[in-house]
Amino acid sequence: MKNTHWILAFAFLALAVGVGAQDRPDVVLADFEAADYGEWSATGEAFGTGPATGTLDRQMQVVGYRGERLVNSFLRGDGTRGTLTSPYFDINRKYITFLIGGGNHPHKACLNLLVDGEVVRTATGRNDEHLELGFWDVSALQGKPARLQIVDQVTGDWGHINVDHIVLTDKKPDIPVERDRLLERANRAVADAAGRAATDPRRPAYHFLPAAQWMNDPNGTIFHDGYYHVFFQHNPYGDRWGNMHWGHARSRDLVHWERLPIALWPSKGRGEDHVFSGCAWKSGAGDVLLFYTSVGSGRPNEQWAAVPLAADLLEWRKHPKNPLITTKRADGPDFGAGMRDPFIFEAGGKTLMVVGADTEDEAVVPVYEAADETLGAWKYRGILWRTPKTVMKFPECPNFFPLGEKFILLTSPYRPVEYRVGTLDLDSFRFSAETEGRLDHSQQYYATNIAFDDAERCVLFGWIRGFPSGHGWNGCLALPRVLTLGDDGHPRQTPVPELQKLRENHRRLEAVPLKSGTTRVEGVKGDTVELLASFDPGTASRVGLRVRCSPDGSAAKEIAFDRMTITAAGEAFPFKLGPDEDTLTLHVFVDRSVLEVFINERACVTRVLDSDPAHLGVEVFATGGEATLRSLDVWTIRGIW
Ligand code: FRU
Repeated sequence: MKNTHWILAFAFLALAVGVGAQDRPDVVLADFEAADYGEWSATGEAFGTGPATGTLDRQMQVVGYRGERLVNSFLRGDGTRGTLTSPYFDINRKYITFLIGGGNHPHKACLNLLVDGEVVRTATGRNDEHLELGFWDVSALQGKPARLQIVDQVTGDWGHINVDHIVLTDKKPDIPVERDRLLERANRAVADAAGRAATDPRRPAYHFLPAAQWMNDPNGTIFHDGYYHVFFQHNPYGDRWGNMHWGHARSRDLVHWERLPIALWPSKGRGEDHVFSGCAWKSGAGDVLLFYTSVGSGRPNEQWAAVPLAADLLEWRKHPKNPLITTKRADGPDFGAGMRDPFIFEAGGKTLMVVGADTEDEAVVPVYEAADETLGAWKYRGILWRTPKTVMKFPECPNFFPLGEKFILLTSPYRPVEYRVGTLDLDSFRFSAETEGRLDHSQQYYATNIAFDDAERCVLFGWIRGFPSGHGWNGCLALPRVLTLGDDGHPRQTPVPELQKLRENHRRLEAVPLKSGTTRVEGVKGDTVELLASFDPGTASRVGLRVRCSPDGSAAKEIAFDRMTITAAGEAFPFKLGPDEDTLTLHVFVDRSVLEVFINERACVTRVLDSDPAHLGVEVFATGGEATLRSLDVWTIRGIW
């Protein structure tokens, strides 16, 4: 053969196996944009008579499909079943790509490729209403006649499947790894909702909250390399609870916060649906690890960890030894499937972890000891604290740590956060409580976490809940508080002094006699204000402050003391002055729809307000006698965003 022939032959071959193959255009097998299924045939009820126009009744929001319609077998809920089968087509490309979402039930809720009546490829959703790109390599099946079949033969949780846009193609789709894909998607969802959230007049101006969407518990609070890090339960996809991720922010001063990319995502490919609450702790090597509860449908909760990719703690990967702790263990009892919220502390040179759990008749706080400095293995050490279920249903978010000369246990038991102060026996790992009470008198303050900083202060974080949904945001962090132990064995809480840097427009009144009645504080107005008021109750039967007052004073949020009770914006609880106390001090923070009140440093109450944006006045009052306002300091507070 002549040279030219060789070149020609080579060129022809190249065309046949490579270049030419890549040039073949894609074939869309189905994009389900018509009102009916066309040549596809349906059996059963789940698929109805044609593609759905998106989310169906009672379904979480379905996203990620193309165009206006998709196959969605949630018709009349998860209880319906059926199949949807395509006509025959020839496999004449290397790949079949598709968008798929819904349940993760292999062979029961799935998309199948059938050749000669046999299932040769299959795919499922990941218990997620987001349709994701999937593909099969079908190069080994070239030329075969085939059919596609969408199957929903499962009822109950996630018993449905979503499919759209099925394509024959020669181009291998470039699917980023799950972590990158899910984080990118979640961060984008929050950014997309931020504009709407920002315009709500209820949205707090100097409390931390994410750019948009839902947040609950503060997680993994830790002081590290000059920063306070706060992670938090976060639903990037809505302003109600769901899709738990860990959001992330950091601050140098506990006042100004830098919002950071979402840190932890549910590893759908490993059956993880939610990343629940937890903590951060440094390993022996000095790495900060995150510990959390992994929640997957159909399995008991597990305790997992995550490892930072770099020292800045911005990016994380899941710990290779997950799960670190499961409910069933050879060395301990079987705690309920809902065991959750790991919290680590140190005592007697040991690194210990408590978790909230329950047995048939008790709420329990089991304790585990780190087997070594890597914190990758834990040994069961017994039950640190227990109480009958008649006393407490479940100890959510247990925080246990040394405070002063004692240990303190905080629990969030589906009611206001409770504290118990006492001693820990390091041989038996048993905690004995000596005093107890409510850390905050409203259950709108919930799910605490703490961080010890370089000044050895114990900084307390909590979640404020109870906001209305439908505004693109929901939930914020309570103002960080310094937690100490009083001489009486009960905790003391004060807002961190760093917050004072947000003060402006100071006004001070002194020694004001309060005759029975209400006095408007002139020259002071606002929906972001701080007030520090000291009262001598004198002969009055009630004294207090009114904030967010309407111009005529008829509407207001009142903080009142009647010698037996404090009532703050409708929440009442017992409070008395001690034998040596002749002053009632109310330290009040108003931040649009948030009210936080510190009473003589030993009681706190947090409230979500529904005030009209135009109600900005401040008043003091006394009734039934004469009192003295010893002093009143008022500031307006600058926003932090
Ligand atoms: C407390 C809590 C935790 C759980 C998390 C889930 O508010 O229920 O027990 O880990 O929220 O978001």
